[in-house]
Amino acid sequence: MKKLIVANWKMNPSTLEKAKELFNGIEEGVEDKQHEVIICPPFLYLPELSKGSIKLGAQNCFWEESGSFTGEVSPKMIKEFCNYVILGHSERRAIFNESNEMINKKIKKALGFNLKVILCIGENKKEREKGKTKEVLKNQIKKSLKGVAKEEIIVAYEPIWAIGTGNPCSPEEAKKVRLFLEEALKNFKSLILYGGSVNSKNVSSFIKAGYQGVLVGGASLKPKEFVKIVKNA
Ligand code: PGA
Repeated sequence: MKKLIVANWKMNPSTLEKAKELFNGIEEGVEDKQHEVIICPPFLYLPELSKGSIKLGAQNCFWEESGSFTGEVSPKMIKEFCNYVILGHSERRAIFNESNEMINKKIKKALGFNLKVILCIGENKKEREKGKTKEVLKNQIKKSLKGVAKEEIIVAYEPIWAIGTGNPCSPEEAKKVRLFLEEALKNFKSLILYGGSVNSKNVSSFIKAGYQGVLVGGASLKPKEFVKIVKNA
């Protein structure tokens, strides 16, 4: 079965020119349509990159369609250029104080514009050490998906302690979490992805652990490595 491989470029690369280069490098390597590949670049690169053949997603959006919200980008605006949006990434939660309630409003609005939502959830190091992983995930799911039952939703399990560390969750632990998430998401048509230090060497272990795809940060900025991830998934 086709897997969903999502590239989260975060606030990279630093110029449109470099973004086009990176995009072209990936586009050349993954043209065989082996898996579903989604690239999520910074907002400003979406119009230009939407001319290419790989599907795009945004990394965030606001919960209103338009109005006096300085600096925000609405789901209606991004819908012109892409069909996916990442919401609730741990960096948005930690740096921009996004709460589950805010994420819930964003999800509802994005779904209203027929965007496919990739909801990120995950526990931090302390929570994991205290054995609170399931409790944290359950709370994030309950609050951020309040009132959105039965919709198609993509959920990325991204343990915060594994993001950008080169130290991913073990496949055994990831499998346990996946089984828990399947139960917790049984009222949704969900796809469950793993994210956190995914590379071309470990990607297959997460697919074997039952994940339907991966969310890739750092390694998606290296075209050859990202193409290998897609091949090995
Ligand atoms: P990473 O990032 O692959 O660099 O760990 C994943 C993410 O933050 O989505």
